[in-house]
Amino acid sequence: MTTNQYIKPVTAKTEKNLTIGGCDTVDLAHKYGTPLYVIDEATLRAICSDYKKAFERYSYTKMLYASKALCTSAISKILTSEGFGFDTVSAGEIYTILNSGISLKNVLFNGNNKSEQELDFAIKNDIGRISVDNFLEVKLISKIAGKYNKNIDVLLRITPGIECHTHEYIKTGQLDSKFGFDLTQLDKVITDIITNHNNIKIRGLHAHIGSQIFEPECFRDEIDILIQEISCIKEKFNIKLDEINIGGGLGVKYTEKDLPPSVNEIADVIINSLEKYITKYNVEPPTLYIEPGRSLISTAGVTLYTIGSMKQVPNMTKYITVDGGMADNPRPGMYRAEYCADIANKMNLKEKETVTVAGRFCESGDILIKDISLPKPETGDILCIYNTGAYNYSMASNYNRVEKPAMVLVNNAQSDIIINRETLNDIVSHDVIPDRLK
Ligand code: LLP
Repeated sequence: MTTNQYIKPVTAKTEKNLTIGGCDTVDLAHKYGTPLYVIDEATLRAICSDYKKAFERYSYTKMLYASKALCTSAISKILTSEGFGFDTVSAGEIYTILNSGISLKNVLFNGNNKSEQELDFAIKNDIGRISVDNFLEVKLISKIAGKYNKNIDVLLRITPGIECHTHEYIKTGQLDSKFGFDLTQLDKVITDIITNHNNIKIRGLHAHIGSQIFEPECFRDEIDILIQEISCIKEKFNIKLDEINIGGGLGVKYTEKDLPPSVNEIADVIINSLEKYITKYNVEPPTLYIEPGRSLISTAGVTLYTIGSMKQVPNMTKYITVDGGMADNPRPGMYRAEYCADIANKMNLKEKETVTVAGRFCESGDILIKDISLPKPETGDILCIYNTGAYNYSMASNYNRVEKPAMVLVNNAQSDIIINRETLNDIVSHDVIPDRLK
């Protein structure tokens, strides 16, 4: 088993209450307030070593963490200490990394509409690689590289045309996609770069076929296409591309229904496919980049809420409402994502009740969990929702002008704030009242 196959952080224990990272979660809720994101450092480090061990056999592997899953300064520090680089998609993510004192040498800048300012910022600060997504970007990169008199290493983002059975909104590798070049455009962009832009050096190809993937075979098909393309490019243009980036995508276990493969199973399919297609298409073993996001951080994170009001609809649903909801976790509303939860202060109670966990935001769709069996919830109880490390804080909003929660890192019975709770002052800090309204 690898960590992505657990619902709860690896350190989760039931003592009197639920403890994570040796910290009593009810104490954490009282000390830091709720809603509270909690990240378990041991779980994060465990999955990092799962990945490193699983890919050891292919020594040309480089690991990037897809920052979009959860980008904070402290998390960036941990990933760097584990030897991971970063896949980034905005100046904000790049700035977070730089501002944590990390060089951009092992950072890839990716995205389908990077602005000129963002590209300028990345290039000025010596970004390691840019994943070129479209023709406009080729021009922009060349212009900015000229301005700084630099040569830029790039990957070309392609859409390999692979369908993964994942939620429709998170498929990105299929042909009708806004991301990257489709295979028929590849010759044109390569010709453009090699004839007109000698400050751009194409190092390899990049693809990402989807997220929350449970079928390792998708990666086999993706690698087949990437290696085949590298071989065609060598023949047609006589240029040797020595890098492939296969994106992220490995799934996690949100509920008992989810059965994601282990990191080892995925690594085996990836490495075996690489070896097979390297031989078949007669190319030299390329550097393999992988850039997981969700599977690295999701299981490490939980969110603590305080239960407030309750409502029993006669003969129908019993709602329990928490002090957070769609603004700190938009995933149930956006993707019908499902989660598991416990009442942190009632871990040993046997008597259960089926309830629906509603959020506090003004929208009837703000439901976090439908029909979950919990030990008789009461106002003031602390609800812990598991597996919220990925794409919760990073997609959080200030809907209803509610302050974003704090985040704490727990490890060995110690807890440290890594994101301060927003204040009401933060909420109005960007507001401006024009003179004529004063
Ligand atoms: N690389 C690229 C180019 C990506 O677009 C993504 C995710 C990743 C890596 C990381 O994929 P992961 O290992 O996390 O599956 N907000 C959605 C997920 C969107 C994923 C977008 N791209 C959610 O909450 O499920």
